[in-house]
Amino acid sequence: MSMSSAPTVATEEDSPEQIALDRLIAEQEQIFLDRTGQSLRLTESAKASLAGGVASSWQDAPPGTVWIDRGAGSHVWDADGTEYVDLHAGFGVNVVGHAHPAIVRAVSGRVTLGTHFAQPTSDVIDVSVELARRFRLPLWRFGNSGTEATMDAVHLMRVATGRSKILKVEGSYHGHHDSVQVSVYPEPEDAGPAARPNSVGVSSVPKDFTRLTVVVPFGDLAAVEQALADHPDEIAGMIIEPFMMNIGLIAPPDGYLAGLKALLNSHGAYLAFDEVKTGLGLAAGGAVELTGVVPDIVCLAKALGGGVPCGAIGATEELMRLISDRVYEQVGTFNGNPLTMAAAKAVLTEILTEDAYAHFDRLRAIMVAGAEDILRRYELPGYVVAYGSKGAVIFTDRLRDYRDFLAYDDRWGNAHWLYQHNGGVFLPPWGKCEQWTLSVQHTEDDARRFVANLETFAADLRGGRRA
Ligand SMILES: Cc1ncc(COP(=O)(O)O)c(C=O)c1O
Repeated sequence: MSMSSAPTVATEEDSPEQIALDRLIAEQEQIFLDRTGQSLRLTESAKASLAGGVASSWQDAPPGTVWIDRGAGSHVWDADGTEYVDLHAGFGVNVVGHAHPAIVRAVSGRVTLGTHFAQPTSDVIDVSVELARRFRLPLWRFGNSGTEATMDAVHLMRVATGRSKILKVEGSYHGHHDSVQVSVYPEPEDAGPAARPNSVGVSSVPKDFTRLTVVVPFGDLAAVEQALADHPDEIAGMIIEPFMMNIGLIAPPDGYLAGLKALLNSHGAYLAFDEVKTGLGLAAGGAVELTGVVPDIVCLAKALGGGVPCGAIGATEELMRLISDRVYEQVGTFNGNPLTMAAAKAVLTEILTEDAYAHFDRLRAIMVAGAEDILRRYELPGYVVAYGSKGAVIFTDRLRDYRDFLAYDDRWGNAHWLYQHNGGVFLPPWGKCEQWTLSVQHTEDDARRFVANLETFAADLRGGRRA
């Protein structure tokens, strides 16, 4: 999600297409800056009391932070009064859209009854029953973010095995706790060999911790087998985004996830799916439903809370017994917060129902067919990949893992993001890292605006010629 590396810089070897992309980026950045003056003023005044002028570092994305005034349905309005179709969805959270009547009802109903007790309220039972049904894991616990969910998953795997090392995929983001802040976006010079990557930590994580996280490439079972052999009886388990969604969108190769489960379990280790982005987004039962592979642990967050902070883990009876028996104390003052649970119950029982996924199918078809047609007519590189509410135009012919991602020219994603934004469609920042998120409140017109902006970009790149 965050691009720590500098953007691609023009060199003498750049192709005419790359030079054209640089020119379009410069033009579109100027248009962006000219129409976001109030956001810029807010950023500048915020800097007096907020580090960097934002509440979280990734809200500060080039070419400038966009301050939001409000959201309704599928749209948001920025501080300058500009309206957008919102496909950013608050980094993939708002699969229900903004101010959905069922969320407004659930949250405002709960507010009048008190919002926090640190004692359970009955909604938590309804939420866990429905999650157990959708994700095929019997027992659940709650937290407040994706980071907490993946942290609990790592803790649980360590406690269950008595082993200290975990496996993680290069280029995956699982939140900001120490065990997973390893090889998220490593620089090419630090990354090491592709088949056996280095464990590259971030500045905040002690080196002694970083070496406990062993890094493997996505989609490569042999690399996992090798890592298990290199660290005999030391690997507690593997955490993985079953579909990679922080370097574009990459589906797992056939048989990969099932193979991982079998391989890890045969070494006495566990498999945790980080479904923080995929869960409820790809399908009602996330990657578990889409692939049929049931891991030992599922981590959820984002869409589950309908816009209210949330996190959850589900696991097998065997693993969750460690929590019920208090061998591992899974705790948090706000866990199972009544507001979150009221919203999550509305999400699961009233909004993200079968009809919602049929709606995504219809809108996704418009976006995919429209974008594929444009790629073909304008002879742009790449392809479109989309599942459920999520999708992305990948402007390169091959994106299977982090090494392909490194070779994928940033300029495509940057230019496309700017054209969409200036054309009234808000995609998540960082261009090539992210994907769109549809909500139940998006319309066919919203989907067509996305396609129209892509065509404007393609036509400008081809010298203004409509194909
Ligand atoms: C796959 C994945 N896991 C975990 C997280 C962390 O979630 P949070 O930001 O709620 O802590 C994210 C955040 O983007 C994510 O994309």
